[in-house]
Amino acid sequence: MSPAPNGGTPAPGGGAPGPNGATLRPMRWWDIAPVMELELRLFPEDAWSTGMYWSELAETHPGGTRHYTVAVTPDGAVAGYAGLMVVAGEGDVQTIAVDDRLQGAGLGAALLTDLIGEAARRGCAELLLEVRVDNPRAQRLYERFGFEPVGIRRGYYQPANVDALVMRLDSPTTDVKTDLKNDLTTDVTTDVKNDVNKDPRHG
Ligand SMILES: CC(C)(COP(=O)(O)OP(=O)(O)OC[C@H]1O[C@@H](n2cnc3c(N)ncnc32)[C@H](O)[C@@H]1OP(=O)(O)O)[C@@H](O)C(=O)NCCC(=O)NCCS
Repeated sequence: MSPAPNGGTPAPGGGAPGPNGATLRPMRWWDIAPVMELELRLFPEDAWSTGMYWSELAETHPGGTRHYTVAVTPDGAVAGYAGLMVVAGEGDVQTIAVDDRLQGAGLGAALLTDLIGEAARRGCAELLLEVRVDNPRAQRLYERFGFEPVGIRRGYYQPANVDALVMRLDSPTTDVKTDLKNDLTTDVTTDVKNDVNKDPRHG
């Protein structure tokens, strides 16, 4: 794959490149094809469509409601991606994913740090996300960053009919700190109403 047309910024924290030598930069339309390759592999039961990514990116203009980031390896390949929606001061993690061959090296953490920082810069009082109840690995990542379980959306992921755990981060800050000692607690039973007009988020 050829390098992306625009340059990247080091990930995370500035200075040297981050995990796998990857850099973070804004997602652009030319990233949609490689993102879709990963999307279909990483979310086999509830992948977003190409059209959904076009719609999301259409809202990433200055003043728009979305913020999308890709992690790019030194050879220009998309290694991961993440998206944020901010409406009326409330942030939602739209998606987050890392190439399965590059997981476990901190890229997920770098992408999440980027989203939390952007939510803080946009003045969000809270940042919410949905995650499949059968995805403990992603839940652990969120928990390390201070997200707490607040409810369950029954049957949120279709057609698999899998429940979503709703998690919330209070007062996102640009000074992101993770807590590696947190134990995962998913014993939340409060039902949260599903919004049938929204595409299920995976993040
Ligand atoms: C969830 C997901 C984004 C995490 O991405 P990741 O790049 O693997 O995340 P990180 O590397 O930052 O952290 C994940 C694990 O790697 C470990 N890790 C992080 N940096 C590490 C390093 N330098 N060396 C060894 N392990 C490391 C973390 O401790 C963590 O371990 P744990 O899962 O056992 O608690 C990734 O697993 C994924 O894309 N999953 C499929 C899509 C998905 O489910 N997305 C979430 C939807 S809600």
